[in-house]
Amino acid sequence: MNPLSLSRLVVMACLAWSLPATHAVEPQATLRSVFADDFLVGVALGSYQINGRVPKAEEVAAKQFSAITPENEFKWQALHPAPGRYEFKSADVFANFAKAHDMKLIGHTLVWHSQTPDWVFKGDDGKPATREQLLERMREHIRTVADRYKDSVKGWDVVNEALSDGGPELLRDSPWRRIIGDDFLDHAFRFAREAAPNAELYYNDYGLEDPRKRRNCVTLLKGMIARGVPITGVGTQSHFSLDRPALSEIEKTIQDLSTLGLKVMVTELDVDVLPARGGFGNADINRREQADPALDPYKAVLPDEVQQKQAKRYAELFDVYLRHRKSVTRVTLWGLNDGFSWLNHFPIRGRTNHALLIDRAMLPKPAFFAVLKEGQKKREEKKAP
Ligand code: XIL
Repeated sequence: MNPLSLSRLVVMACLAWSLPATHAVEPQATLRSVFADDFLVGVALGSYQINGRVPKAEEVAAKQFSAITPENEFKWQALHPAPGRYEFKSADVFANFAKAHDMKLIGHTLVWHSQTPDWVFKGDDGKPATREQLLERMREHIRTVADRYKDSVKGWDVVNEALSDGGPELLRDSPWRRIIGDDFLDHAFRFAREAAPNAELYYNDYGLEDPRKRRNCVTLLKGMIARGVPITGVGTQSHFSLDRPALSEIEKTIQDLSTLGLKVMVTELDVDVLPARGGFGNADINRREQADPALDPYKAVLPDEVQQKQAKRYAELFDVYLRHRKSVTRVTLWGLNDGFSWLNHFPIRGRTNHALLIDRAMLPKPAFFAVLKEGQKKREEKKAP
């Protein structure tokens, strides 16, 4: 490429990131600046995106977002793959990046049934661990990890996805529950408080927009609060599609959770644009659906009509979040750009999804500008006499 066309490209890319003149209130507005008085705007990243190999990803992440969540690097299997062996290298990349760019770091996650190695649940001679063994293991893991990052992590997803999906029971069947019992959550939060006295401590789950699961969540959290368990916030993952769940359920979820007196966070937002058969709303990473070319229609490009629909959906979501800005303290996108999104592999591997605000060429999509515009609109309203 000759230097002239290279510099033209750079100019084009820079222009692409500022709001089109027709909407411009502040042409250099970014997500983190526009929502600065409302809530943190976060992004999930992989350590390979911020360890010097993808400079554009680092630049965009640091410029646009005020919080980061490690997408996999703080999970048990990454941090603590074998008994007595901890691997902190990839997690440290996040602590350093957050500090260098004045971003809040979220620890995801301490206790979960997925991405946790089998050895955690085994006792002697391959038998299941006893309650005492597993509680001790949980405590040691939480103490080690939370203590190492006590000056870097603002808040921990202490327990992820403990609620059942549609079963008669409140809690899902998991090795944590089977071995320890229903009080495994109380213990996890108490251990976390012991190790990280100043951190925020969250319960995080998906599908809380479903009225039944939401009721169960409220029951669970009310019980914990009544028992004096040190919980300070609740995360609704928010893996949504273009038209599900209904906006009214999304709003109700925020209302019901904030009534508990907890901080509410949107922790893993994305808007799936691909057709689905059944299973929607269930973000259990172990769920698999049958591959079918009809379920992968936008391999080459996302049609403008769908781009616009997605932009409208994101605008409506942020309108709800802004109206509840007193309770919503963070909104985190689950991925920096469409190419990095987990939805290219869930619940079917190898599809081309377009679920986020930034495209594969690292350029802002209509959805990005729609969100920015919502933020700017609110700021203008607040300034008006
Ligand atoms: C996903 C990651 O994005 C993928 O890279 C990984 O392969 C599986 O896990 N709910 C959660 C997240 O709480 O941890 C999951 O992240 C997505 C669903």
